[in-house]
Amino acid sequence: MTKRDIALVLVAAGSGQRLGAGKPKAFVDLFGRPLLTHAIESIMAVPNLAQLVIAAPESHLVEATEIAAALVGDAEIHLAVAVGGATRQESIANALAQLNESVEIILVHDAARALAPSQLFIDVAESVRLSGKSTLPVMKVVDTIKQLDGALVLHTIDREKLGAAQTPQGFVAIELVAAYAKANQEFTDDAALMQAAGHEVLAIAGDERAFKITTPADLAAAELRFEGQPRGFKTGIGTDVHRFTVDSAKPLFLGTIVWPGERGLDGHSDGDAVSHAIVDALLSAAGLGDIGSNFGVDRPEFAGANGKVFIEATLDLLAENGFRVENVAVQIIGNRPKVAPHRSATEAALQAIIGAPVSLGATTTDGLGFLGNSEGVAAVATVLIAQSQTANGPEGRLAK
Ligand code: CTP
Ligand code: MG
Repeated sequence: MTKRDIALVLVAAGSGQRLGAGKPKAFVDLFGRPLLTHAIESIMAVPNLAQLVIAAPESHLVEATEIAAALVGDAEIHLAVAVGGATRQESIANALAQLNESVEIILVHDAARALAPSQLFIDVAESVRLSGKSTLPVMKVVDTIKQLDGALVLHTIDREKLGAAQTPQGFVAIELVAAYAKANQEFTDDAALMQAAGHEVLAIAGDERAFKITTPADLAAAELRFEGQPRGFKTGIGTDVHRFTVDSAKPLFLGTIVWPGERGLDGHSDGDAVSHAIVDALLSAAGLGDIGSNFGVDRPEFAGANGKVFIEATLDLLAENGFRVENVAVQIIGNRPKVAPHRSATEAALQAIIGAPVSLGATTTDGLGFLGNSEGVAAVATVLIAQSQTANGPEGRLAK
C-alpha cells in the first residue's frame, strides 16, 4: 500500500440559497443525516487519506468539527476545519492554508455532491498519481445543447465534445497550492483555475451519483435513492386513565375533540385520555420522559389545556430532538363511550395535528373492573417515530 499522501478538501461553506432549507446546505438532512455526514462517509473509504480539511460556515464550525471527528474516529487522518469564504474559491483557499506539507495529491470535493461514491475519489486520485496531471470527472451531456442569444437559438453545439464537470477533482498538491496563490480571478471550478495557470487537465468518467444537490427537487431525488433502506425507527407506548365526571354538563373530550352526547371525564386538564396516552407514547419513543415530567404542575400554562396543546408541544420537543412521527395507534378500553360513531372525526382531528396516520380502536373488558363498570376510560397508544435529523437529538449529531 502506498503511503498516506492524499488530502481531501471538502467545501461545505455555502449558504444553500437555492435549496432554501433555512440552514447551510451541508447541514441539511438527507435520509436522517446531514449532507456533510454522507460526503464524509464516502471519503472515509478512500485509501491513503492523510488529511481531511473541511471549509464550513463560521456559524457551523463546531458542528462540522463534531460531525467529522465522529466519522474519522481513531483513523490516522488529520482533521482540520477552516472557516469558509465569500465564494467557493475563497473557501478552498482558506482550507488550503491548513494543509500539511507532506501531502502529494489534493482532491477537492463539494459537500453538495453528498452521494459521490468512494470509487470516484479513488479513480480521480489514481489518475493524478499515474498521469501527474489534474483530473476531473465528467458526465456525458445527454440533451441537445443550443447556443442562445436571448430567446433566439443560434445553433446546435456538438454534444459529443461536451462534458459536465463534477467533483472530486484531483491535483498535484504543490501545483494546486501554487495556482491558488497566484489566482487573481474567480473560477467556477478548480480545473479551470489550474488551466488558467497553464496546467493540462484530464477528464475521466464521472458518476451520476456525484450529482450536485442544488434545489429542493435535487434533495427529493437524493432522498428517493434511499427508498427501502432501514431508518432509525423507535416505538413508544403510553397509557392514560380518567374517571367519568359526575357533572353531566361537562363535555367529553377525546383525541382533542368533543364527543357529543357523552359524559365528560375528570382530570387536571380536560381528561382527554386519548391525547394524553399519545403524548406519553411519543415521549417514551423519543426517550424524553413522560407527560408528568414535561408538562407537570410546574407548567401552569398546561393546566386545563386541550389535548392539542400537549400534542403540539410534544411534537415540537420531538422535532428539536430530530424525530418525526411515522404513525400512531390508539385503543380505548372501556364499556363507554361507543367509539365507532366518533372514530373517523377523531382520527382526522389527530392526523391534522400530528401529520401522520392515526388509527383509533376500542375494546371492552368483558364487564370486568373499573373500565367494565363504566367508572372511567383508559387509552393505550403506541407510536413509531423515525430519526429525521441528527442536529441536536439524543441520538446526537455524532450518531451514524
Ligand atoms: N461553497 C463553499 N463556500 C462558498 C460557496 C460554496 O464552500 N462561499 C461550497 C458549497 O458548500 C458546496 C459547493 O461549494 O458544497 C458548491 O456550491 P453550491 O452548490 O453553489 O452551494 P451553495 O453556494 O451553498 O448553494 P447556493 O449557490 O444555492 O447558495
Ligand atoms: Mg453557490
